[in-house]
Amino acid sequence: MATLAQLHTEDHFACERHLQSLIVAAETSNTTGCLRSFDDFRDALLPHLAMEENSLFNSITAAMPSAEGTIAKLRKAHDQLRNQVDQAAKYLSRHDFSALAVSARQIQQDLHEHASEEDRLFTAVGDVIHATQ
Ligand SMILES: [Fe+2]
Ligand SMILES: [Fe+2]
Repeated sequence: MATLAQLHTEDHFACERHLQSLIVAAETSNTTGCLRSFDDFRDALLPHLAMEENSLFNSITAAMPSAEGTIAKLRKAHDQLRNQVDQAAKYLSRHDFSALAVSARQIQQDLHEHASEEDRLFTAVGDVIHATQ
């Protein structure tokens, strides 16, 4: 059976693929490519954030109360990611491809760091759950 960390990684890979397409499209001033990959990225990312906030994070806090501080930090990072996506949408609507490319690269970097923090937490939670079974 796939672990929580593995499923989580697959979700993040999907976001990463669309984000990478967005960066390429922005750097080549490809309007159609930007519109499509931005929508694909947002459609992959936003439900993922919501799933974590509405379900996963609550289950983790219940299983491992000591994770509360880390979860609060992750929730804050989600808010920041949503703001960055909104800002990128503004660049896209203005056809400001260079600002969009910079913004998408920053999101990519922040998302990598965020995913690593989550993977560490989810692995730790998996260990706690296994230890109590
Ligand atoms: Fe997250
Ligand atoms: Fe995540």
